[in-house]
Amino acid sequence: MSKVISFATQKGGAGKTTLLMLTAAALHNRTDKKILVMDSDPQLSVKTIYKRENNPKSYDVFAFNWNQPNPAPNFEKVVVMARQKYDVIFMDLPGSVRSEEFYYSVLESDILMVPIVASMLDLNATVSFLEMIPDFISKKRDQKLEVFGVINKRDKTVEHLLIQKLVGLGGMDLFYSTISSLVRYKRQLSTVHDLVEPGADDEFNHYFEEFRKNCFV
Ligand SMILES: Nc1ncnc2c1ncn2[C@@H]1O[C@H](COP(=O)(O)OP(=O)(O)OP(=O)(O)O)[C@@H](O)[C@H]1O
Ligand SMILES: [Mg+2]
Repeated sequence: MSKVISFATQKGGAGKTTLLMLTAAALHNRTDKKILVMDSDPQLSVKTIYKRENNPKSYDVFAFNWNQPNPAPNFEKVVVMARQKYDVIFMDLPGSVRSEEFYYSVLESDILMVPIVASMLDLNATVSFLEMIPDFISKKRDQKLEVFGVINKRDKTVEHLLIQKLVGLGGMDLFYSTISSLVRYKRQLSTVHDLVEPGADDEFNHYFEEFRKNCFV
């Protein structure tokens, strides 16, 4: 059965696109699953890297045109078709929860991955976002949405006890593994290549294993 997994939170710059790309590349390289990334961010970040790499070994990337009159029914059709063709559909969302892109993508999602940065401003934005989740769920056809938080840009100074308090809000579970703030996550984004050797004792692999286990992919 296909899965739609969106990387979403209302805070810009929390690492939605970064985590999505790292996860998609690892799944693409380490499994034979058919993967599509739907880029619904107006900045088209994934699509831009995909075009620049111009490599037939990339996973597929599709940028839905949200600038059409009444995009929702077409978007729904595209997702229904994509679910028939792909095993996993990742959606990269903009940071603005009030946009159409955000709303309709969440309604089509089975799982939300929420990158969380442990700063005061980020945490407040994350709380407001998690508080909206029951409302999204009530509008979904299947009334189901799994939500997983991942601590991103972890450094030595952050107060992680604060993040623990978010567990359960909007039904969110928090991953045990975390992603540090490292230059490699800035530089090594690719629609073709995996970031690290599978099997290496590396925080990314710990995150990725946890991702696969929780999302059943
Ligand atoms: N773990 C990390 N370590 C270092 N830099 C990171 C990490 N995660 C993200 N970044 C950097 O933080 C910035 C924002 O990340 P990213 O673009 O992935 O966030 P986003 O949530 O997709 O933002 P937007 O809401 O604008 O789409 C980028 O410059 C990215 O390279
Ligand atoms: Mg982004």
